[in-house]
Amino acid sequence: MNTPPPTHEWWKTAVVYQIYPRSFQDTTGSGTGDLNGITQRLGYLSDTLGVDAIWISPFYTSPMADFGYDVADYCDVDPTFGTLDDFDRLLAEAHRRRLKVIIDWVPNHTSDQHRWFVASRSALTDPKRDWYVWRGPKLDGSLPNNWQSMFGGPAWTLDETTGQYYLHSFLAEQPDLNWRNREVQAAMFDTLRFWLDRGVDGFRIDVAHFIMKNPDLTDNPLAPPPRGGADFRSFGGYDEWDHIHDKGHTDIHAVFRDLRRVLDEYQGDRFSIGEIHIFDWDEWASYYGDGDELHMPFNFSLVWAHWTAAAIRCRVEALQTAVPANGWPNYVLGNHDEQRLATRYGPQNAAAAAVLLLTLGGQPTIYYGDEIGLRETEVPPERAQDPWQFRVPGMSRDGCRTPMPWTATPGHGFSVPVAEPWLPFGGDAPRRNVENQLGDPSSMLNLYRQLLRIRGARSSLQTGSIEFIDDVPDGVLGFIRADGAERTVVLINFTDETRDTPVPDGSTLLFSTDQMRTEIQPGLIDLGPNEALAIDPGASA
Ligand code: GLC
Repeated sequence: MNTPPPTHEWWKTAVVYQIYPRSFQDTTGSGTGDLNGITQRLGYLSDTLGVDAIWISPFYTSPMADFGYDVADYCDVDPTFGTLDDFDRLLAEAHRRRLKVIIDWVPNHTSDQHRWFVASRSALTDPKRDWYVWRGPKLDGSLPNNWQSMFGGPAWTLDETTGQYYLHSFLAEQPDLNWRNREVQAAMFDTLRFWLDRGVDGFRIDVAHFIMKNPDLTDNPLAPPPRGGADFRSFGGYDEWDHIHDKGHTDIHAVFRDLRRVLDEYQGDRFSIGEIHIFDWDEWASYYGDGDELHMPFNFSLVWAHWTAAAIRCRVEALQTAVPANGWPNYVLGNHDEQRLATRYGPQNAAAAAVLLLTLGGQPTIYYGDEIGLRETEVPPERAQDPWQFRVPGMSRDGCRTPMPWTATPGHGFSVPVAEPWLPFGGDAPRRNVENQLGDPSSMLNLYRQLLRIRGARSSLQTGSIEFIDDVPDGVLGFIRADGAERTVVLINFTDETRDTPVPDGSTLLFSTDQMRTEIQPGLIDLGPNEALAIDPGASA
């Protein structure tokens, strides 16, 4: 458990663990995880693993067209996941264990079943009509503009009753709220207060930059030729357009300043992190505001980076330059929308990726299951769930959302053996599960545990400066984290070959992904293929 000095807000040094609630722990035998399941596993998170905070993906009332990212009631729990009382118990138990709780907040769109939308679509004159974005067809009968849904096809759906189209940046079941309407702002801020009053510590804000669009609904131009390199995720036809008008309008900053004021009404450093996929670093950094907007925009720059020392260094340096003086960095390597990191970077690199994530500093977020090295699961077509995949083949996110295997036994400790889980387990679950890995000192889980302990004990790894080491062989990333007299040197070999790498005299080994390495010889060390280690350079470096 990290014990940050009082001068630091908790979220600066906290290691966050993302839980996809459908897949974490089922306590009812339904085959789908629930809030009581999370409560049951809090001891694993706080004591066994040793993280400081959890972020729970949406558990609100929802028809589940997008598995909870289509909210029908922001102030209640979907029966799939339990009740508000279950949530209150989860929160109290988490706090008793000194775990902070961050919940997902989905402001860009509601479910089409939300009572606000039901009213809005009922008549042109309904008082809630303007709470969503409605437009009639153009004079020639065509769609209001050329905006596309991220999940494929036009972002407009015709409502036959009133003869107008409504805007949806995602599914037709996810109509976009009109954030230019002050009543919408007030109502949505009240939903924040609802959870803040209950005691939640922060919010992960879903597609945060989508909420403000060009007020004239101007057509998007075609995209410029593909951004250099293949190291960005492709979104299919959506990438044909330059999305300069359908999101990220600068009026958004006033909204986030207001949002920050809502959080600041409460004691205890309530926190916000925005899901913001923007590749222009200056624009990305603008979401910190003047220290008065979001506490952080998520930094996704490493998720699709080439797994090379040069590419990673380049992105970390770009981040450092971009984060404003009063801002704080963060790192994340996986989540419920991305291929599992062990598959994306290659299984041989999963351990080094853990070292990178937990030693770079800032606020790291671990995606559930990555601590046991879960791979992307091949989900057979007849078990497919993701609505994106049904609309844009190839875009499935099912493979990274499969249930957590806790044990080798039938049901894998996730659910009762007879229950069919909502998505299948990976084929390696009988071997790759929490119980097996706890018993194996060289497992990925024990590496994460060790890393988290070391990180928690070393202020250099939490709040220290970072400086890259130039005197390392090709393919090796080396950096020094320093906080006062305490320093930690991290060396990561991104290649599949041994690299003779200099280390300062007087160094002691803190840990290595190679269990056979128990000490450091002065001079040159033979950093093994894909090995990552950390050393205390003593007084010499
Ligand atoms: C975000 C979520 C994703 C969801 C989408 C629409 O990108 O992370 O899972 O489908 O928003 O809400």
